[in-house]
Amino acid sequence: MSKKPIILGIESSCDETAASIITENEQGIPIILSNIVSSQVEVHKEFGGVVPELAARAHVEKIDWIVQKAIDDSGLKADDIDAVASTAGPGLIVCLSVGLSFGKSFASAMNIPFISVNHLEGHALSPKLNSKLDYPYLLLLISGGHSQYLSVEGLGSYKRLGTTIDDALGEAFDKTAKLLGIEFPGGPQIEVLAEKGDPNKYQLPKPIFNKGGCNLSFAGLKTAILKVSKNIKNEQDKFDIAASFQKTILEIMYKKTKNAFYEYEKNNVNKKTFVVAGGVAANKKIRSMLINLCEENNYKSIFPPINLCGDNAAMIAMVGLEKFKLKQFNDLDYPAKPRWPLDENAAFLKGAGVKL
Ligand code: KG4
Ligand code: ZN
Repeated sequence: MSKKPIILGIESSCDETAASIITENEQGIPIILSNIVSSQVEVHKEFGGVVPELAARAHVEKIDWIVQKAIDDSGLKADDIDAVASTAGPGLIVCLSVGLSFGKSFASAMNIPFISVNHLEGHALSPKLNSKLDYPYLLLLISGGHSQYLSVEGLGSYKRLGTTIDDALGEAFDKTAKLLGIEFPGGPQIEVLAEKGDPNKYQLPKPIFNKGGCNLSFAGLKTAILKVSKNIKNEQDKFDIAASFQKTILEIMYKKTKNAFYEYEKNNVNKKTFVVAGGVAANKKIRSMLINLCEENNYKSIFPPINLCGDNAAMIAMVGLEKFKLKQFNDLDYPAKPRWPLDENAAFLKGAGVKL
């Protein structure tokens, strides 16, 4: 019986300081031994978004004890760890630097390999922590900073099929929430408010609905919400806006995911697996709509468990585990990369003048 690798994952790309220890069993199924996430929601809520310098300071203050707690909770000792995997990008550079430097120092002090991880690849591989998942698969990554359809062909091998040309889906949820007077990040609250509202009360726009393949756009929606939110008179109005917004998102994502299936199947006819990851994958209405769509189109649908949809270090350790097995280690001068797309060949599609 060979010794199974024990990987420490560290995440600090935005407003969560996180550390996790994972390993795998004899069948190669990953096992999470500990998973500690410390959110900075309280630090940023009065500012309506993440303030980079405050976030970095909070990471510095916490990283030591978060890593120590991850080690303690795993029941192991620091010298049982075989490699350290830290998020190197994309994200806020001042934040990335904290977890990256800590991981490098830990690896150097313990004389073990260091592995740099793309945060988005962490989300992409997060379903592997609880499901058997073979390459290739179609991935929908929906978080606060990214909204993309990607064909995942293997570890480190991604082809982008579609992306947002303006706001990310999580950002659209958060901005709508802000207009309804909900503190950042309000995405999860929209789901709660929508339960009590009339989804047909407001007709909202669906930008690039009938063009642009599986590219996405949400900025026009925010402008429309801004207009209707000026007439809010009572709580019921807020519920109706939340419900109408969520319904519009469901219609957009239904259509665009169908388009993504079409694009993906051009090269992967018999590999119909659809994975949804990132913070917004926690939304139950979006989950059930996508599960139904998969059933209609003979796709197997896979979601990470709700607690692994948001930022965490178990998903970073998961990428670390796969890279460790392939001996894909990095030098200790590996830089933080604020911009680090999964598909380096895909065109930059944000901003004015984008043609679809
Ligand atoms: O992946 P994540 O934790 O962080 C990033 O890497 O961005 O995603 C956070 C985003 C936020 O915009 C948050 O409002 C959104 O995910 N989110 C949700 C829900 N839970 C989290 N949006 C809609 N419905 C939810 N239940
Ligand atoms: Zn994330």
